[in-house]
Amino acid sequence: MSFRLQPLPPARLNRCQLFGPGSNTKLFAKMAASAADVINLDLEDSVAPSDKDTARANVIEAIGAVDWGRKSLSVRINGLDTPFWYRDVVDLLEQASDRLDMIMIPKVGCAADIYAVDALVTSVERAKGRSKPIKFEVIIESAAGIAHVEEIAAASPRLEAMSLGAADFAASMGMQTTGIGGTQEDYYMLREGQKYWADPWHWAQTAIVAACRTHGVLPVDGPFGDFSDDDGFRAQALRSATLGMVGKWAIHPKQIALANEVFTPPEAKVAEAREILAAMEEAKRTGAGATVYKGRLVDIASIKQAEVIVKQSELIAAG
Ligand code: COA
Ligand code: MG
Repeated sequence: MSFRLQPLPPARLNRCQLFGPGSNTKLFAKMAASAADVINLDLEDSVAPSDKDTARANVIEAIGAVDWGRKSLSVRINGLDTPFWYRDVVDLLEQASDRLDMIMIPKVGCAADIYAVDALVTSVERAKGRSKPIKFEVIIESAAGIAHVEEIAAASPRLEAMSLGAADFAASMGMQTTGIGGTQEDYYMLREGQKYWADPWHWAQTAIVAACRTHGVLPVDGPFGDFSDDDGFRAQALRSATLGMVGKWAIHPKQIALANEVFTPPEAKVAEAREILAAMEEAKRTGAGATVYKGRLVDIASIKQAEVIVKQSELIAAG
């Protein structure tokens, strides 16, 4: 056990992040009225190169003009390999209202990518006297990103969340699939003639969760492309939640309720966690470090596991 305590991630809800293209202004009010915890206005891959300037102006206007309620409001800027990103940062920081909470940096490959954006953001914030520091989110969606995931998670005190971007990740890794998340037809084990489908995203997700938990960042599962497949979305989201991720993107409003459902611990699970805490309180009174709850072992580690669930439900209740 390291003497360093694991830092807590930001205490805010991140069960569902709803995306919409910055070029599609008709969606903004609908996004604001949705049940998503986080709104991501996109300037990157859902916006055609010829629309970048208009989308940027739309988004800057909408940040101040639309009533976003208590949602976290984020803008996804263009990648550092494009000619657009510096203008995204400068215009957003110079012109957008203080309602903007975060910018999302896509396709990060190393800690220096975050450092570069941080330097630019810090300079514009100082020049403009912005009193509310902009927070960052990043997307791990390349071979370099996953190879350097831990240094990226540690790269800036502004960093609040990290998502896995399955489509670009698959392309960068040379994976033989065009699917965005979920089970892949050819990724199966064979036993006695029966196919068993495994999860090709598991390793990347777990690496992201470990990096995030080490540095107090929220780990998030990215998009699930087939928005007609509710069961597929739910199955993917349940696996992510089980692995420690706190939420998932929605690229269509249909997916919001699904994400909220999966990343809100069910009443029964919360009740059980409270019972485990009570059982351990009772054990402590008798000087025991372990006890039996419903026929199974619970010990001091179980307190921490139960607290994860109870804390999440308290955050949602306060939401
Ligand atoms: N946010 C809020 N509302 C949305 C929405 C979104 N992202 N996407 C669609 N809607 C609305 C539509 O406007 C429509 O509203 P209406 O009933 O008032 O007419 C309703 O939801 C149903 O939409 P539907 O017709 O099924 O979808 P579509 O064909 O209009 O749009 C997409 C499909 C995929 C193009 C659209 O959902 C979209 O742009 N998603 C976000 C893409 C994105 O941001 N990608 C980047 C991250 S990977
Ligand atoms: Mg991407």
